[in-house]
Amino acid sequence: MNFSFENLEEIFKQINAYEIKSSDDLEQFRIKFLGTKNVIKPLFGAIKDIPNDQKKNYGQEVNSLKSVAETRYEEVKTHLDATQKSKAIADLDLTLPGEPLNMGSQHPVSIMMNKIIDIFEKIGFAVAEEREIEDDWHNFSAMNTPEDHPARDMQDTFYLMDSTKYLLRTHTSSVQARVMTTQKPPIRIIAPGRVYRNETISARSHCQFHQVEGLYIDEKVSFADLKQTLLYFAKEMYGENAKIRLRPSYFPFTEPSAEMDVWLGTETEKTYRLTKGTGWLEIMGCGMVDPQVLVNCGIDPEKYSGYAFGMGVERQALTKFDIGDIRLLFENDVRFLKQFSTVI
Ligand code: PHE
Repeated sequence: MNFSFENLEEIFKQINAYEIKSSDDLEQFRIKFLGTKNVIKPLFGAIKDIPNDQKKNYGQEVNSLKSVAETRYEEVKTHLDATQKSKAIADLDLTLPGEPLNMGSQHPVSIMMNKIIDIFEKIGFAVAEEREIEDDWHNFSAMNTPEDHPARDMQDTFYLMDSTKYLLRTHTSSVQARVMTTQKPPIRIIAPGRVYRNETISARSHCQFHQVEGLYIDEKVSFADLKQTLLYFAKEMYGENAKIRLRPSYFPFTEPSAEMDVWLGTETEKTYRLTKGTGWLEIMGCGMVDPQVLVNCGIDPEKYSGYAFGMGVERQALTKFDIGDIRLLFENDVRFLKQFSTVI
């Protein structure tokens, strides 16, 4: 091959005349003039064969050949990139519907529980959360439930590990014992959480459900305080005109004890069914903390008294959201769960 100056001139022309219309063309151009086996490379090797007086000039020419190729490459690349970008933008169809955004929603039980918590936090109750796996003492003994009490029956309680010492708490009242043995009065807490009972699952009852416990211990706490607090709750939850009634009842850990119903009426088919035709929906157990429970937990009953209540969450959620079967709350079918708004 003859490495003459005409030869350089020829390659220079090729570089400038090379037709580059696409990124494929550009890649061919790169391989030819800038790749590892490009056509300029051998020209460098030929410098040694050039007569001495022309070496410098020749070398400069070959170098400029290389930079001309590089410059052309960069220019065309920038141009192609820009064209591609504006084409992509032009091709965008801004009228297409957007990707649907799957928003999560709160579980109706959570919505209900948070609402209950909000209502009591407004009047100074603090949230206390405790374990679901409890020992016999906190769930039963401290709560004045004697060994032979029917509530301890194997039918109701899930015991763990073949022992009768550990169990899944059957009510949030176990949190009362946890709090009273670790905090000094005044105590004013609500304890939301899940509880377990070995019950047959049906449309109305489940082996797991949620309760919110309330406990207030201070000097001179009376039944009137309890009643007023519960009336406040009912009005906040069921409206300004809500009516409540307290029926005498029995719990081992409260004396006196009562059950509280709210008035839903019987006007609609739904409320008639939910209240079994009475108009009243039973939502919680309550009472004055039995002095023996205070003693069990190391609190002086001569100085302090208190009230406690424990309400079911599911039944209130079913009412509020017009759900006919408690089992739906535990199946976690997204089609069902999506329906509930957090605004109640
Ligand atoms: N623990 C009781 C229950 O599960 C409810 C309750 C709580 C009653 C506090 C009185 C006081 O039924």
